[in-house]
Amino acid sequence: MTTTDFSTLTRFMAACRERVDAQMLRYLPDQHSPAPRLADAMRYAALGGGKRIRPVLVYGSCLLAGGRMEDADLPAVVIELIHAYSLVHDDLPAMDDDALRRGRPTTHIAFDEATAILAGDTLHTLAFELLANVGDYTDNQRISMVRQLSQAAGAEGMAAGQMQDMEANGQALTLAALERVHYLKTGRLITAALALGAIAAEAPPPLRQTLRAYGDAIGLAFQIQDDILDVTAATEELGKPSGSDLRHGKSTFPGLLGIDGSRARAADLCHQACTLLDAHAHGEGVDPRLLKDLAAYIVARTH
Ligand code: IPE
Ligand code: IPE
Ligand code: MG
Ligand code: MG
Ligand code: MG
Repeated sequence: MTTTDFSTLTRFMAACRERVDAQMLRYLPDQHSPAPRLADAMRYAALGGGKRIRPVLVYGSCLLAGGRMEDADLPAVVIELIHAYSLVHDDLPAMDDDALRRGRPTTHIAFDEATAILAGDTLHTLAFELLANVGDYTDNQRISMVRQLSQAAGAEGMAAGQMQDMEANGQALTLAALERVHYLKTGRLITAALALGAIAAEAPPPLRQTLRAYGDAIGLAFQIQDDILDVTAATEELGKPSGSDLRHGKSTFPGLLGIDGSRARAADLCHQACTLLDAHAHGEGVDPRLLKDLAAYIVARTH
């Protein structure tokens, strides 16, 4: 499949979702595993819903850098496994204490807390196991992907953001501090998705830089839109509890800037991201339209 097969973003996103779901089905443990209940919980948490935005970004970045869809299959799966783990833990009673995710009971409700914790742990480790073993990559590519993903998810990335998010409960953060939390808890994995796609396609350093900067902008915009939707959208549309942030005394963009101010900031970041791509897109074969459409989708989405 080539880029030109995807005439619209919607079609591209559907194709990415189909690919990544097929791969996840293949690699997640099943009933023959030593702990079938744990395998069930992992499959429950990872499959059956979700926009698959991070995989879409991996594929989009890989195509932009001249790679093929199949080059991006492994990084697309592993980033979604890390994301799925982060959601299972984010919903736990000790964290956001939410009972609904992707229109279904959260993993700790459908199973139990201990199983959900272990499912999160093992989705996390499965990602790195696959990075070590699956696909046709050079050792350098594998090491680069492990480096990007571990740094983005770990104690200086997503997990740090989640810690800061909890520490900020009930507190009034400055805009700069809130942007930092959002960048860490959500932006880092989104930037990593773009970096993994670039590594899979062996993109040259200047393009990697552009994709990183684009990712930083849309990553923050993604969490701003998440905060906006928490206020403005209904639970049925979101598939997760509307108003969760307010109930838990979270620091959010709407709390600091209001809805209109938050929308303006997200739109500004989207514009910034698209400008970065335009500035780079003078090389042959570099068509930034897909990633520009994705940036627009991220701030326009309704769930
Ligand atoms: C929700 O992410 C958690 C955040 C980082 C804001 P998504 O909005 O991508 O959730 P799914 O994967 O589509 O369910
Ligand atoms: C979560 O942010 C970010 C993660 C690292 C999972 P939120 O707590 O706002 O995500 P939702 O709204 O529950 O999806
Ligand atoms: Mg949270
Ligand atoms: Mg949450
Ligand atoms: Mg949220």
